Amino acid sequence: MNETTLIKTANALVSDDKGILAMDESNPTCNKRFAALGIPQTEEARRAYREMIVTTPGLGKSISGAILYDETIRQHLNDGTPFIKAVVNAGIIPGIKVDAGAKEMAGHPGEKISEGLDGLRDRLKEYAQMGLRFAKWRAVIAIGKDIPSQACIEANAHALARYAALCQEAGLVPIVEPEVLMDGDHTLQRCFDVTEQVLKTVFNQLYRQGILLEGMILKPNMVLPGLACPKQESVDEVADATVKCLLRTVPAAVPGIAFLSGGQSPELASARLSAMNSRYKSHLPWELAFSFARAIQQPALEIWQGKEANVPEAQKALFDRASYNRAARQGEYNTNKKIK
Ligand code: 13P
Repeated sequence: MNETTLIKTANALVSDDKGILAMDESNPTCNKRFAALGIPQTEEARRAYREMIVTTPGLGKSISGAILYDETIRQHLNDGTPFIKAVVNAGIIPGIKVDAGAKEMAGHPGEKISEGLDGLRDRLKEYAQMGLRFAKWRAVIAIGKDIPSQACIEANAHALARYAALCQEAGLVPIVEPEVLMDGDHTLQRCFDVTEQVLKTVFNQLYRQGILLEGMILKPNMVLPGLACPKQESVDEVADATVKCLLRTVPAAVPGIAFLSGGQSPELASARLSAMNSRYKSHLPWELAFSFARAIQQPALEIWQGKEANVPEAQKALFDRASYNRAARQGEYNTNKKIK
């Protein structure tokens, strides 16, 4: 493990008020988003869409790193440039999703365990040789009647820690993503309690597996009421609850926390991140950043529609959303003001 490289990469991912763009949708997820807009679900459409993203002029002003998918890193832009090189040329650090998806957990109806540890050491070796510098593994925790179980939380936390150890061995910074889902009618307090329990378990496992905390990034959910909960707290209340939960659970040695958006609207995700930074930034031990997929991409995808002619307008929407999130890192995103 080269500690200096890991620490440098982890810090670069959260420096200059930039954040990470997740563009690592698996083929089924990407196809689902395309199908909803009537876009053909083909390998070429996925390639063209991702070319639109990585060739967005000025994207590197707000984006520090991009999480890619295995299919994408083996593809090329229309002009023959390999995707990894195109990302590097844009001033963005290339990363890769390495979990093999969240699958039904045996004996635990309604719960999932992320797969992909078998053979991971060899895959990471290849990714490092290809020039990828960080990785992502997503674990999914659902809230419902009698769930999550301790068994589900522990199994996912253990897998995250084993993945993180393999990444650091290979010289890749692990993004550790335990996502507590928004689906359901649970309250903000219930999300707080589950997120607190999950993060405590995850950091316990990371400690046991000897993870260099200075050389990793945490990618958690914000603490939110369930989407179907009748009481939806204000932006400031969400910011307060999220920061309180993170202060209780995330060691100060971790350089950055980069939130997932999880199905929040782009505006709310930015507003909540901005509120956290405007209220707390100066006295937090870690950077509070973003690693959004939908909250950065969705407006651009809706404009793109699979059509070459729409590329400039879609790129403008993508650039704007990335810039708004950079403003949110400075605590300066305001939905009433157009921030550019
Ligand atoms: P969302 O921001 O759309 O939740 O995606 C983030 C991500 O990378 C999920 O693994």
